[in-house]
Amino acid sequence: MEKRSLVKGKIHYVGVNDRNKHLFEGMWPLPYGVSYNSYLIDDEMVALVDTVDVCFFEQFIAKIKAVIGEKPIQYLIINHMEPDHSGSIALIKKYYPDIVIVGNKQTFGMIEGFYGVVGDQYVVKDGDFLSLGHHKLHFYLTPMVHWPETMMTFDETDHVLFSGDAFGCFGTLDGGFIDSRINLDKYWDEMERYYSNIVGKYGSPVQKALQKLGGLPIEMICSTHGPIWTEQIGKVVGIYDRLSRYEAEEGVVIAYGTMYGNTEQMAEEIAAELSANGVKNIVMHNVSKSNPSYILKDIFKYKGLIVGCPTYSNQIYPEMESLLSKILVREVKGRYLGWFGSFCWAGAAVKRIAEFAEKSKMEIVADPVEMKQAMKPITREQCAILARAMADRLKKG
Ligand code: FEO
Repeated sequence: MEKRSLVKGKIHYVGVNDRNKHLFEGMWPLPYGVSYNSYLIDDEMVALVDTVDVCFFEQFIAKIKAVIGEKPIQYLIINHMEPDHSGSIALIKKYYPDIVIVGNKQTFGMIEGFYGVVGDQYVVKDGDFLSLGHHKLHFYLTPMVHWPETMMTFDETDHVLFSGDAFGCFGTLDGGFIDSRINLDKYWDEMERYYSNIVGKYGSPVQKALQKLGGLPIEMICSTHGPIWTEQIGKVVGIYDRLSRYEAEEGVVIAYGTMYGNTEQMAEEIAAELSANGVKNIVMHNVSKSNPSYILKDIFKYKGLIVGCPTYSNQIYPEMESLLSKILVREVKGRYLGWFGSFCWAGAAVKRIAEFAEKSKMEIVADPVEMKQAMKPITREQCAILARAMADRLKKG
């Protein structure tokens, strides 16, 4: 019987699924879990490509042994050092003390720093080569996708790209792991959320990596999270290309904070006027309820952004401050921006969002709207003006 772990030729899937963790990186919800993918190339010389979160080491080593039995592993290729993939390096080194770790100049300092592991190394430069016998591997440095040491490994024998986090997504692999053999519905949104949350700041390095890899005859992408891509390579590369160029669809995200519903009325007024002016895609998020992970995903998806919140202790509403900081970190480009705020006795929210607007370099569509205490006819009209300005700007494109 063909081993169920078989990916292609001599390449096997030895990754694991995490259905226990609530928050990836301590921040991002995992409603469908996440997989940590690792691959074993069972050639004349055996190579392991990346490892898994150390919590899953028992499963991991059992999967490796199921493929190669007691044969040694000659090479451990490290495409990325974030601990969800590098976490088992020290234990792999204990099981296979003669293993040669393959990485670039940036990789080895991190291996020693995180795990105290030293020993045999193969330090690769861009374009360097390793033959395993049948498989010939080339290494491509892709720094800042999304850490400085990130690189990718291309198997020129079977045209397989081991891409690290690139082209990955949230969501466990429930039984199968190749795109053509599984239902992919849950992964598409989870890919956009993964990209915007984890990689979002690094659009320019992702573009550089896409250009560098553009000429390779890639038939399969083995990333470190989510399905192996074969039939869907075009769609997946297209998603990463679009998101890394910060391209967005016509639509508006309204992200608002509210304590007693007064500020929320402003958001409702703006949404209704946007709709009356032909905007179909309107997504509203109460920042105290929607996790920022999902708000960021929608901000990467839509061209318009309207934010608003109350003043709190003479400052901006804290949940909004947290969201604005996450948007700034990701350097989201090419968005149209409007904002509103409220106060009881002294206003701060609108002023603080203005500081965000300046830093973000987004295009401001209209004057902000500031409301004292509760909705009045003048506030209603100002909200409508803001909404119409956003709708007009979207129509102009
Ligand atoms: Fe999946 Fe950047 O680690």
